[in-house]
Order: sequence, then C-alpha cells, then structure tokens
Amino acid sequence: MQIKTPPMGFNTWNTFGENISDALVRETADAMVKLGLKDAGYEYLVIDDCWSKRERDPETGKIVPDPVKFPYGMKALSDYVHEKGLKFGMYSCAGVRTCADYPGSFDHEFLDAETFAEYGCDFLKYDFCYKPSTANGPVLYHRMSMALKSCGRDILFSACNWGSDEVNKWIRSTGAHMYRSTGDINDSWASMRDIAMSQLDNLAYSAPGCYNDIDMLTIGMYGKGNVGSLGCNDTEYKTQFALWCIYSAPLMLGGDIRTMTDGLLKLVTNRDLLRINQDPEARPAFLATEMSWFPGRIVLVKHLSDNELAVGFFNMTETGGQIPFFLENIGLTASSGRALHMREVFTGEERTVKEFMNPVVEAHDCSVYLCRIVKA
Ligand code: GLA
Repeated sequence: MQIKTPPMGFNTWNTFGENISDALVRETADAMVKLGLKDAGYEYLVIDDCWSKRERDPETGKIVPDPVKFPYGMKALSDYVHEKGLKFGMYSCAGVRTCADYPGSFDHEFLDAETFAEYGCDFLKYDFCYKPSTANGPVLYHRMSMALKSCGRDILFSACNWGSDEVNKWIRSTGAHMYRSTGDINDSWASMRDIAMSQLDNLAYSAPGCYNDIDMLTIGMYGKGNVGSLGCNDTEYKTQFALWCIYSAPLMLGGDIRTMTDGLLKLVTNRDLLRINQDPEARPAFLATEMSWFPGRIVLVKHLSDNELAVGFFNMTETGGQIPFFLENIGLTASSGRALHMREVFTGEERTVKEFMNPVVEAHDCSVYLCRIVKA
C-alpha cells in the first residue's frame, strides 16, 4: 500500500481522550463533510485509545468494543464513516496494555489485525506503552506490519513510539506509513515550539511512503480538552499549521471540528499551505537560515514540483524582529541574474527579491511565501 502524500484527517485523542462514543464519531464525520474538510483532503477519522472493554473476550481472545460507548459495534460505525466518503481509523498498542490501560496487541497481532479488517478499518495508530523488555521496537513494528499485510485489507500503519530507539533509522523498513518522532503534544505554545524545533535535524526523514508525524494538531482547542494546557492564540495556531505543512507532516486535526471557528477553518483549508504539504515530490524542507544571535528565528525552504519553492519565515522567539534571508543560502547568487518572485500565502502580498531580504516577523508569528525563480 503506497501513501503518496502526508495523510490528513482527524483523531479523537487531543480533545476527547476517553470520552469517545459512536455519536461523537458520527457527528464528527458529518462535520468533516459539511465544513468542506473532506473536500480539502482530510479523509481519515481516527478513534484513538479507550474504545474497548478493559479485557479481551475470554472465549475468542478478541478485543471487544465498549458496548456503552459503541452500542452498535465498530462495523456499523465504519459503514457510516465510509458512506460519508471518509476512511475509518483505529488504535492499538505494541505492548500488553495501551497507554490508557486497555488491552494491547502484544502477542495478539494477527488476530487483532484480522479484527480491525472485519471492522472495515483503513488506518491503525500503533502505540508503544507496556511492552515487555525482551521485545524491541523494530520487532514489534515488523510484527504488526506483517499482520496488517496479511489481514486482507489495506490498512495504513501509523507507528507511534515517540521517537525512541532512533526510530527514524529503521521505521521505514518495517512497512509503517508514518511514525511519531516526538513525545505527546499539549495545547500550548511551548509544547508546539519544542516539538517543531526538535525535528529540524530530522526533516529529511519524511518522504513518500513514510512520513515524520510530529503529532496531532491542537488548532482550535484554546486550552480545553484532554491535552488542553495553557492554550494557544490564533497567531500561534497559524504558525503551528504552517510548520506542519512545510515539514511534510501528517495533518491530523485534534481540535473539535464541530465547533471550529470560521477563521481556523479557513486556516486549515488554506489551499497554498495544503499544496505545500501535499506536494507530489514530497521533498523535505531544509533550514536555510537560523539567526545565530536569535536562535529560533528561522527560514525554512521546501522545493515543490513545477519549479516552485516554499519559503517560510518563523519567529519562534519571544520578541518580534527581522529574520534575514540570504538567497545565496539556497543557491541564488548575486551574479546568477535570477530573483525570487514571492507571494505570501496569508496576505497575498507579492514581491520580487534579489540577494537578500529581511522581513519583520512578530513573536510566535510566521510568513510563508510561494516562490518562483525569475530572471532579474
Ligand atoms: C500515547 C500517544 C498519544 C495517545 C495516547 C493514548 O501517549 O502518544 O498520542 O494515543 O497514548 O493513551
């Protein structure tokens, strides 16, 4: 199963945690269609941890959906999600228990993969809690990958071991389609910033087939919900989304989309940003400049198909100010006779730049340009 661009969708964990239900998933599916999120490319609706009973069925050994939360069972729910034109995702864990202490798939991988296939599942997030110390990460992710490959259904395999065991070095070889490279996000500027900055050295480990997953977005949580913390403001959500897009990260929404504001809806359906994230060449971004005297003021550049480039100025520091960008750093020397024609994706502002630019970017804010090389 080939995943050509970073997966997009919604995951229940950030906002709802254990408070998930059949009704919530159906309402979310309805909202994804009604608000145009499905048309924008958000296709996976993923139920995270806490969906099952605390113990397996003693007769069959199978995981059993919680009959109170999911009274009609998982197949009926996935049918509903599929009728909406969306894909249905679920969650399990490589250890004996999930992170929230429900049955994990350790030593039940093949049975569980078959059960997920029976449910009509299209996506499996696979966590890493409570694993016996005799089993290592590569073995456990290989095992579930083999179980999924032989279950009779195409299921996207989303690995989630939080970046441990140098996961970027071996995860692609297990067959996973995306892999978490960081610990859990919470809805605060500091958490988002630290996650993004921690991956600057790992940008090149995101490519067609297997994408670097820097966790579900917190856009729209405003400090509420399961991983709500100090909350973020709209500028910080804008920067979060732009970063995830230029990083070629999976875009899994984690705020309650049923109540998303028009402004944030516009943000997460911004065509230019989605084009940057979903570019078919899926080249990694690279760090073109980090100011040595203001670490955290960075310029990221990503080559796109059709000879375009994305250039993002991100001010991750606590004060506003200029972020210098030497075009020479991306190969456009002063003597090249070339310039960049740039269009800012939020304001539409256009400019043509030679050699150097030094835009002012407020604290926690960003500017992102779609660019084309022109004769100067
Ligand atoms: C881990 C994962 C989270 C979430 C929880 C569920 O912490 O990293 O994304 O799935 O488990 O318990």
